[in-house]
Amino acid sequence: MLYIGVDLGTSAVKLVLMNEEGEIRNSASKSYPLSFPQTGWSEQNPEDWISGIKEGLKELLKDEKVEDVDGISFGGQMHGLVILDENDKVLRPAILWNDGRTSEECEYLNNTIGREKIAALTGNMAFTGFTAPKLLWVKKHEPEIFDKIAKIMLPKDYVAYKLSGVHCTDASDASGMLLYDVKNRKWSDEMIDIVGIKKEQLAKVFESYEVVGNVSAKASEEFGLPTSVKVIAGAGDNAAGAVGTGTTSNGMCSVSIGTSGTVFISTDDFAMDPTNSMHSFAHSNGKYHFLGCMLSAASCNKWWMDDIVNDKDYSGELKGVKEYGKNKVFFLPYLMGERTPHNNPNARGAFIGMSMDTTKQDMTQALIEGVTFGLRDSIEIARELGVKIDRVRAIGGGAKNPEWCRILADVMNVKVDKINCEEGPGFGACILAAVGCGKFASVEEAGAKLIKVTQTIEQIPEEVELYEKKYRQWKKMYPALKDIYDEIV
Ligand code: XUL
Repeated sequence: MLYIGVDLGTSAVKLVLMNEEGEIRNSASKSYPLSFPQTGWSEQNPEDWISGIKEGLKELLKDEKVEDVDGISFGGQMHGLVILDENDKVLRPAILWNDGRTSEECEYLNNTIGREKIAALTGNMAFTGFTAPKLLWVKKHEPEIFDKIAKIMLPKDYVAYKLSGVHCTDASDASGMLLYDVKNRKWSDEMIDIVGIKKEQLAKVFESYEVVGNVSAKASEEFGLPTSVKVIAGAGDNAAGAVGTGTTSNGMCSVSIGTSGTVFISTDDFAMDPTNSMHSFAHSNGKYHFLGCMLSAASCNKWWMDDIVNDKDYSGELKGVKEYGKNKVFFLPYLMGERTPHNNPNARGAFIGMSMDTTKQDMTQALIEGVTFGLRDSIEIARELGVKIDRVRAIGGGAKNPEWCRILADVMNVKVDKINCEEGPGFGACILAAVGCGKFASVEEAGAKLIKVTQTIEQIPEEVELYEKKYRQWKKMYPALKDIYDEIV
């Protein structure tokens, strides 16, 4: 039998086809636009996701018998607000995870209602990208739309709904809505009251590996999949990515360098960072995780290479680097504001330290180092919480670059493991589909059978020392600029 994993990303949807042995038989990717209607805003049209998936499925399955497909599941960009009317029509473009328009709403939740209270109810504090503040924003700025909301969905759940007709979500993705009591895995009635919505507007919560239904007759015609195909709830992209890297046992850590940059730490039990800088979310194996999230990671690189220096040679961008840890240029990677650790939508990017002999190469290297320092911030918080991190599994576009992995190892002082499949959330979604269809007894069993470490990049002690010094210098730059960011926004 075959399993389809849908990685519903920010720049593209990636579809992965896996067989029972865990081999990737095919993959397909379809990109779609992202719009920034105002500085710091970020929206997408949910119908673009659906057309991308329909197109992608044709390509994915062109050499297969569709009857061999047993299940389909998802790893989706998290936190996005998709609102439907009573006829299940999308009411406005989705407001995405990296949208920063809700400063006032977060201020209200964290300061008027109170961070401790919100954290006691949900396990987290309010960040601008989370779903509940976006609902408050729609209530204030688009009341006529707010009044028409019949269902509140997350991006991948809208796709699952289109396939199955079931309004569903999963515990990992629900965790990022700030409406879900993560510890007790149920909607928080009090948060629902605070935001002024009704429980019926929220979807039914499943575990990530549970079947929500089958492909409906209508969807069968539209998507070309038989009605025998099971739709499995799936997970937020980070939790699905962690399944795809086998990051499912207590204390294991994976780092994803994609559009966002994330540090994911699997935990057996619910735990909370007292400062709430790290998110406490449900994992897709029925347990929990800590998550630190940077809003711009490989996307800083994409901006620099595509829009500024107009250079398409991503794989060659660091080829000339010899002096790891000796670059005098620094970069602050806050092109869309920042979530972990600053929770500041007004933060912006900055290059610091250029001189007349600075080269493009120095700036490219500074940019990659700056993103990696940002990831180290999350590792630092986790280490302060007592988590011992001496190796990480790396995924995402950035991790395909061997020089970036070496910088990661040196900056974090860890060993970086590469694994046999780099598809991350798409592969994790295939595994969740296979578990849901009964092919494996659990997410852990599937991981143990299918995921192997293929290469380990070791840190180099002299470079660790140089980067330690650079990281300490870099740490002083954001506080020095913070007031200026607030002034120029
Ligand atoms: C996690 C987060 C991002 C998105 C990216 O909290 O906001 O990683 O899920 O797709």
